[in-house]
Amino acid sequence: MTVVTPSARLLADELQVDTGAVVVYLHPSSPHAVLSVARSGKPSSVWAVHRRLPIVQAIAGDAARESLATVSVSHAHGRMGVPSDVQADLVVIEVPVEKAAAHLLLHDAALLLRTGGRCVLAGGTTEGIKPAVRVLESIFGNMRTLAVGGGHRVVEARRGATVAFDSVQSLVAPYHEPEAFREDSYLVAGLPTRVFTRPGVFSWDHLDEASALLAESMTVPADGHVLDLGCGAGVLGAAVAARAPRVDITLVDADCEAVRCARQTMTATGHGVWRALASDVTSAVADSRFDLVVSNPPFHTGKSTDLQLPRRFIAESHAVLRAGGRLQLVANRTLPYEAELERVFGNRRTVHDGARFKVLEAIRR
Ligand SMILES: C[S@@+](CC[C@H](N)C(=O)[O-])C[C@H]1O[C@@H](n2cnc3c(N)ncnc32)[C@H](O)[C@@H]1O
Repeated sequence: MTVVTPSARLLADELQVDTGAVVVYLHPSSPHAVLSVARSGKPSSVWAVHRRLPIVQAIAGDAARESLATVSVSHAHGRMGVPSDVQADLVVIEVPVEKAAAHLLLHDAALLLRTGGRCVLAGGTTEGIKPAVRVLESIFGNMRTLAVGGGHRVVEARRGATVAFDSVQSLVAPYHEPEAFREDSYLVAGLPTRVFTRPGVFSWDHLDEASALLAESMTVPADGHVLDLGCGAGVLGAAVAARAPRVDITLVDADCEAVRCARQTMTATGHGVWRALASDVTSAVADSRFDLVVSNPPFHTGKSTDLQLPRRFIAESHAVLRAGGRLQLVANRTLPYEAELERVFGNRRTVHDGARFKVLEAIRR
């Protein structure tokens, strides 16, 4: 279930779309505003693009149920999700919290828009709308506020004959090229590990302390199948590869950019058998069975703690483990995962109890 944010409500209520317009909607937080634009019957086409699979599936499902044939949905970030010949009259962006990912979308909007087209930006004041508006104005040289409410605002800028790409170049280069990856080399569980990332992927510019701890604590079988659940850039998968050359590794993530990065990271390991797949929790591997699942589960929606996803990570791990298979996960010390593991697996043990993080294990009986 997706939450309808004040931004999406403002957009659904206030956005004016011209008849026949080509609309590109980048990073919609829910189907709400995308479908309200499509339902108006005015646009000739609406491209909805999001990097997270559950949102893409929700929009595609709702559009199909309502037979909204003008809506095309892509699992991608920014202009990668739109055919290169599309010239948009309107680009709508719901601003991602991650600054560099937001800058990339603003850069892409300027490339997607025809001269005279509009870029509409929406977001919350605690979620980066103000700095994003400053970047919008620096690119397009103009800006006006369309609506404000519920701590969110909607602004628009019009694309002139020229665009100040220079103003945004230093913010996005080199990642405005889809095939540009940041490459870092970290010591993970004592072994040098090359990690490839892009803006917006979890801990994209550093090694996460909790992930490093899990990599040190996990017990990897010599053979069999391992699942890196919510793999991000593939740090845990790469750590498994470094220790167990014969193991078959599957990495899954809902974020398509994470999956692209995990593929780069795993390719660099030279490991024999692995795959990286887009997946809503275990949806892409529901028919497979694993000997070990490793995970640093997500527990945030925006800035608040949300335990719904970690609960799904635990329940779906149990479902894809063989009898005797183990889930090993890392979490902030304060997160109450023990009770959930007991409820689903009927057992759990603390593998590591640190000052900030704990590593927990549960075995499927
Ligand atoms: C805390 S990060 C851990 C990333 C990586 N394992 C690491 O240790 O660096 C959690 C990951 O879960 C992914 N995620 C969030 N929701 C998901 C879902 N519904 N299905 C699969 N992965 C999801 C996020 O995109 C993110 O990459």
